[in-house]
Amino acid sequence: MSDLEALQHEALTAVDAADSLDELDRVRVRFTGKRSQLAVLQKGMRELSPEERRARGQALNAFRDAFQAAYDTRYQQLQAEALRSRLEAERLDLTLPPRRLPPGRPHLLTQVEQEMLEVFIGMGYRVAEGPEAEAGSYNFDLLNIEPDHPARQEMDTIYVDGFDDVVLRTHTSPVQARVMTTSPPPIAVVCPGWTFRADAVDATHSPVFSQVEGLYVDEQVTMADLRGTLLAFARAMFGHDRDIRLRPSFFPFTEPSAEVDVSFHGPGGNHGWLEILGAGMVDPNVLDACGIDPERYSGFAFGIGIERVAMLRHDVGDIRELFEADARFLARF
Ligand code: DAH
Repeated sequence: MSDLEALQHEALTAVDAADSLDELDRVRVRFTGKRSQLAVLQKGMRELSPEERRARGQALNAFRDAFQAAYDTRYQQLQAEALRSRLEAERLDLTLPPRRLPPGRPHLLTQVEQEMLEVFIGMGYRVAEGPEAEAGSYNFDLLNIEPDHPARQEMDTIYVDGFDDVVLRTHTSPVQARVMTTSPPPIAVVCPGWTFRADAVDATHSPVFSQVEGLYVDEQVTMADLRGTLLAFARAMFGHDRDIRLRPSFFPFTEPSAEVDVSFHGPGGNHGWLEILGAGMVDPNVLDACGIDPERYSGFAFGIGIERVAMLRHDVGDIRELFEADARFLARF
């Protein structure tokens, strides 16, 4: 009996000393498992007399109860401790200031393009788009630009390797041809997108730039409609005190054609005109080639450089600023 008392003392001491749940489990196996002294004593009961067996049985039960009680207590303590230290380790310091990420925003060109489109959408235009790799027929032929027309060279066309007649569009005008060949008048579309020319990069040239093309075709469209539309555009983009001026020009796809300037008033009485776009009345040959009856319909078209509008409006002196992604520049807009 005193063996059992000693064993119980040893076991309960070990339970109290266990400092982790793993250790506690090892103590349990050591004192109550299949190869424990308890198991040996239990087996030995077979050889005892009935009285002895009863007494031993009670003693062993008492041992087991005492062990289980001590075990349960320690188990709960250790579990509470484990939880406490985990909470401590995962503690959040709610007094730390938040890490501030500067808010992002669309690129200046995207902002300006969006604004330009909105001006025209407000006048009833819808947005149409076309491919950047374009068939020569749309980029040139349907727009009245003959194969040997100097404009093909002037535009420094980039041809797509391995295709017979595919170019990176040199302007967004092919989209007007695409719209006219697929939908009947009345037509009022604006066509934004990237355009490409084999130009060397300098302060005013980039081989990749962007335009918004406009096209309005209906019965009895006149040059006065063109002027009114572009005046409304210029005032919306540059300010309500602005004026526009149309200068005679030439484009193969319009007749007559004009270059359009917007007025400016700078400090110290400095004022003048800045060119912002090309425009004109759609050439009857273009209407005809695109399947629209020039006897019944007329229209105007215009092409606006988005970089140019952005640069004029925001005093950007070098087109490269628009493509270099310098965070200090971008943060200004
Ligand atoms: N496509 C011309 C260019 O890239 C711009 C242009 C001029 C478009 C007159 C037009 C237009 O629609 O009528 O230089």
